[in-house]
Amino acid sequence: MTNELKSSTAGAASQASEQKLEYAYFHGKLVPFQDATLDLRNPAFLYGISLFEGIRGYWVPEKRQISVFRMKEHYERLLKNSNVFYMTPELNLDELCQLTVDLIRKNQHDSDIYIRPTLYKSGESITPSLEYTSTEFCLWTKPMGEYLDLEKGLSVCVSNWRRIPDNSIPARAKAGGAYMNTALAVTDARKMGYDDAIFLTGDGTVSEGSAMNLFLIRDGKLLTPSKTEDILEGVTRHTIMTLAKQELGLDTEERTIDRTELYHADEAFFCGTGAQVAAIGHIDNRPVGSGKPGPITRQIQELYFKVVKNQLPQYSHWCTVIDA
Ligand SMILES: Cc1ncc(COP(=O)(O)O)c(C=O)c1O
Repeated sequence: MTNELKSSTAGAASQASEQKLEYAYFHGKLVPFQDATLDLRNPAFLYGISLFEGIRGYWVPEKRQISVFRMKEHYERLLKNSNVFYMTPELNLDELCQLTVDLIRKNQHDSDIYIRPTLYKSGESITPSLEYTSTEFCLWTKPMGEYLDLEKGLSVCVSNWRRIPDNSIPARAKAGGAYMNTALAVTDARKMGYDDAIFLTGDGTVSEGSAMNLFLIRDGKLLTPSKTEDILEGVTRHTIMTLAKQELGLDTEERTIDRTELYHADEAFFCGTGAQVAAIGHIDNRPVGSGKPGPITRQIQELYFKVVKNQLPQYSHWCTVIDA
């Protein structure tokens, strides 16, 4: 069974949404989802020439609101990456945010959602170049529950696939084609019976999870691979470091991490928009601490879910609240 859409509430919401007309933003307007179709010759399809974001919106039932978490930061990252790939989006930061709010309203969601903006190149040349005629932007939303199990303490392996180096395809770009790398690691890990995988860099130091960042806890301190370890500079990673410091008084050390430090860790967890905060119980069949989610991970997880649901006023500037 896939981990996606595991939660029964999201499953129910997804069934309901099958009956409801859903919209996507495509070619400059909101259109029924089934009308948003790409030309087979599109370079995003042919070569993975696209940049994307994954944003979550949390349903707050007592207020009948959706709290979209750190939308601005996701679009800021997308816009920075557009510069790397010669993409010139027509919409600016404010317009992208407003469009997202409009689409969520239009789709009348009443469950947790996933929001997927994509910038891509359009044109009919078969040359895998970035010099296509135009940069397109599309956006869709869908109900989504847990991506990874948050409770059990995941069993993960160190992948024998290495993370793509910055000078090949930058991991920090969140480029569509780069997720072939993720797909290899996660598929092989699951075929071997693990829940997910940890990538090493080409140099053999710890990088990140297949589609999430990684934190270790050693001697009461948080430890995470630095930004130059071929990672995506995660919005959640930044969130965790901020919460750990401000709410728990814990510093995070960002540095190069050796593989065997994974086996020395007292606790470990993945984090990301999709993954949220997911405890790791075993790495390469070795228990991490007790093998169960540890106390600091639990505290961070609890804080994170309060913050994303806009329950801590000091972080409400991170939440865009949309009335259902
Ligand atoms: C490869 C990779 N690393 C890390 C992350 C976490 O990034 P963020 O917290 O911005 O979602 C993601 C996306 O979720 C990812 O795809």
